[in-house]
Amino acid sequence: MPSDPMTHSASTLIDTRGRPLRDLRVSVTDRCNFRCTYCMPKEVFGKDFQFLEREQLLSFGEIHRLVRIFRDHGVEKVRLTGGEPLVRRKLERLIEMLAYHEDLDLTLTTNGSLLRQKAADLKAAGLKRVTVSLDSLDNDTFTRMNDVDFPVSKVLEGIEEADRVGLRPVKINMVVKRGVNDDSVVEMARFFKGTGHIVRFIEFMDVGSTNGWQMEHVVPSRELVEKIRAEFPIEPVDANYRGEVAERWRYLDGSGEVGFISSVTQAFCKDCTRTRLSAEGQLFTCLFATRGTDLRALLRADASDEEISAAIAKVWSARADRYSEIRTAETAKLRKVEMSYIGG
Ligand code: GTP
Ligand code: 5AD
Ligand code: SF4
Ligand code: SF4
Repeated sequence: MPSDPMTHSASTLIDTRGRPLRDLRVSVTDRCNFRCTYCMPKEVFGKDFQFLEREQLLSFGEIHRLVRIFRDHGVEKVRLTGGEPLVRRKLERLIEMLAYHEDLDLTLTTNGSLLRQKAADLKAAGLKRVTVSLDSLDNDTFTRMNDVDFPVSKVLEGIEEADRVGLRPVKINMVVKRGVNDDSVVEMARFFKGTGHIVRFIEFMDVGSTNGWQMEHVVPSRELVEKIRAEFPIEPVDANYRGEVAERWRYLDGSGEVGFISSVTQAFCKDCTRTRLSAEGQLFTCLFATRGTDLRALLRADASDEEISAAIAKVWSARADRYSEIRTAETAKLRKVEMSYIGG
């Protein structure tokens, strides 16, 4: 029986550093139709790569049940991720189920490739907004990065359609890699300035262990702020909520805002309220975790809601993660879970 959204009363879980559990990122598939070089390099994620089988994936019913339990622990926001979430068949059905919880901030991060076709259905199912990854407006640079020859124009059509159907504000995520797309930054800001969409520039991170991360590839957000400020006057704005990942800056002429996500040079672990559920039901309390906790085993062993709830409480109460604060060249080499598996 789903809980009634009106009578829902949440109890807050606190970890060993005093951080509450507020956000759940749910990966619905480990597959993607792109092969971004910084995320799923072709040499590793080739035709022999073993993706999860269908029966290994949590069903929509299982995901919904877990979300209900997480809500009772204080989760206010659910973000669907992948791989690419829109390659999971009938995703609108899951959205419909989750949208039952009217006060949940329900959103999704996508590469935008299927958005033009799907935006209206996603909106109708109850999705509130979307975030679209787009690393350059220059077609050569973009196709070099997605490595499947996918054109910029189609992603832009997806963004337009998402906006048209009201999945707003559309956020645009650009991962910046030095020497690869850092020359696309100002153009990206210029293009979306005044559209109502919010571009966020993300420092390239050492997620997983296959993307060849090196500190030299990271462009510190400070440098990007200066680069953009040289073109358009901007000033910092307060965060929307405690623990917001992006640092916000607004254009002085009132034409919107941009964000900077600086996990490498300005770690934001202190206020990290996020947990992550993999497509096969492993719970991770950090993007850089090396292991998770198997919730699917509990679900499929007919555990009660109370038992699952207690397992989640135990994991969060013991949580001490602060990877970005303690990152070194050595930790960067650890065998961490892959971005495409855990959903970013
Ligand atoms: P909003 O609610 O729209 O602000 O979403 P978000 O910024 O939390 O989510 P999104 O999926 O757009 O993530 C943006 C970038 O921040 C991605 O590169 C994520 O991997 C990264 N990110 C999100 N949460 C964390 C986190 O807890 N730690 C680190 N290191 N990076 C994160
Ligand atoms: N560093 C930073 N961001 C990354 N993303 C994927 N891989 C990385 C990485 N290594 C981004 C995607 C997407 C978001 C969920 O994470 O582009 O926008
Ligand atoms: Fe796919 Fe997103 Fe990873 Fe690119 S960054 S390969 S679009 S999951
Ligand atoms: Fe949270 Fe881990 Fe990211 Fe720090 S590195 S903000 S603890 S997910």
